[in-house]
Amino acid sequence: MANFIALKVARDAKAGWDVRRDGVAAGPALGLYLSTETHVVSIRGADMMGIGSGNVRQIPVDDDYRIRVGDLRARIAEDREAGVHPFAVVATAGTVSTGVVDPLEEIADVCRDEGLWFHVDAAYGGPAMLADDLRPLFAGIEQADSIAFDPHKWLYTPHSGGCIVVRDMELMRRAFDVDYVAYVVKDEEHTDWGIDLGRHSPNFSRGFWALKVWVSLLAHGRKAYARRISHDAELARYLGARAEEHEDFELMAPRRLALLNFRYHPRSVGGAAELDRLNERLLEALNDSGELYLTQNRVRGAYTIRLSIGQTSTERRHVEAAWTRIRDTARALRA
Ligand SMILES: Cc1ncc(COP(=O)(O)O)c(C=O)c1O
Repeated sequence: MANFIALKVARDAKAGWDVRRDGVAAGPALGLYLSTETHVVSIRGADMMGIGSGNVRQIPVDDDYRIRVGDLRARIAEDREAGVHPFAVVATAGTVSTGVVDPLEEIADVCRDEGLWFHVDAAYGGPAMLADDLRPLFAGIEQADSIAFDPHKWLYTPHSGGCIVVRDMELMRRAFDVDYVAYVVKDEEHTDWGIDLGRHSPNFSRGFWALKVWVSLLAHGRKAYARRISHDAELARYLGARAEEHEDFELMAPRRLALLNFRYHPRSVGGAAELDRLNERLLEALNDSGELYLTQNRVRGAYTIRLSIGQTSTERRHVEAAWTRIRDTARALRA
């Protein structure tokens, strides 16, 4: 929903006609640009806004799973030529699959040159901005027009706590405001509660979703989050090194943030289908153990085991135990 809100603000700010009044059919097709690694919620957002998922351009990624900025520029130019009206780029800061951060500074340049809205989906990675050692990965994010991030991911709060930060609140109001109904019109004035969120988002009224996030921040403070997030990334680095140095395991993508993609690949097993099956069975056996919970992934077509660290009580000893179990279970399966 945070990403959807951002894209709606982007559409209304950049379309060039009054889309809210006249609808999307009153102008040319609106082009939205993102990478093949972008989370599907942005494509769904385009559908929900009537832009059409067919007008979402999934730009290819490089060997490090980052959007190819040259291809992005070329596609925008091609679309303009064909009469499409490009309006926004979604960059990702911490992709769902491999935790990669897109080249934000370069994307910011494209958006500035082309007059496009620069949105960053930082749902997973955003909170890592708090950690001194991880912050440099996000260079360029400060130029974004909007950023979505999820406290229910790497701020460890319970579901749901999606956040959206928009540079220009006035554009946000223009994207959602309605002629106010008599029964609430005076609330802002009487209560002095500040900005009325009912005028800035799809919801008119809402529960106090922010309470848990606010209280958590008050209780622990910024530095505690920074320490914990760095610690998670360090644990993932430790596990990544174990997998990398073991002759029967391989990393399927470079370790990024606190995400790891690996597979079991003993020398005696060569065929792609057989490897996929072996790793599928390994994942099932590991999850059935009840000792750890990992997810399946596909990286460049290959079945991959995805490990994400992001729990306030996860310590080095848990990660060591996890690695021992992964290694022993794999060995037993092969036998
Ligand atoms: C980058 C990114 N965007 C969006 C989402 C969707 O978030 P949610 O499942 O909390 O709606 C995810 C989920 O993992 C994500 O990683």
